[in-house]
Amino acid sequence: GTEPLDELIAGLSVDVPDFPNPGVLFRDLTPVFADGPAFRRVVEGLAAPALEDPRAAAVAHADDGVPGDPGFDVVVGVEARGFLLAAAVALRAGVGVVPVRKAGKLPRECVRADYALEYGTATVEMHTDSLRRGQRVLLVDDVLATGGTLAASVALVEELGGVVTAVSVVVELTALEGRERLVPHAVHALWTA
Ligand code: PRP
Repeated sequence: GTEPLDELIAGLSVDVPDFPNPGVLFRDLTPVFADGPAFRRVVEGLAAPALEDPRAAAVAHADDGVPGDPGFDVVVGVEARGFLLAAAVALRAGVGVVPVRKAGKLPRECVRADYALEYGTATVEMHTDSLRRGQRVLLVDDVLATGGTLAASVALVEELGGVVTAVSVVVELTALEGRERLVPHAVHALWTA
């Protein structure tokens, strides 16, 4: 039988103690992304919560990119590791991909949202014209930790008139309770650690 996806991710990821700071256990997912079959299952899994429509499910499992409704109109991916995932999900679903970037990286007019870090704050931005009002958004990142990054990303999407249909991550660090910061949006996590 096929190994459960959470076990596959857990088995391929590498725990790195004290990175990037002492006391932090970093869950390195790069070996998961480097494994072809695992990466494919991760990409398909991230799209799954938006795929309740059976026509959409059929599309998601098609290998030839048959046009149809995947349940979202665009994938928004969060810098930097979220980019690896969001582009693959978008290609598979036949939609486009839009970046949420750290401040100062995007060249044109942006909306911006600040969020708290352990020490200080950070800012994320999106191009003001990167979404159309009412566009259904699948929001993708690799890790949900405190939830600050994804909460700020949701705020940007909604400021631009986008409708967040699902928030998908590869791993949720449940002890940090980031999910609480994303209410009322449900978080779809492929692995909880
Ligand atoms: C990491 C991770 C998420 C975020 C999660 O990105 O990829 O985007 O932190 O943390 P949070 O839930 O506490 O906000 P990081 O800030 O390290 O950026 P990078 O991917 O550009 O290195």
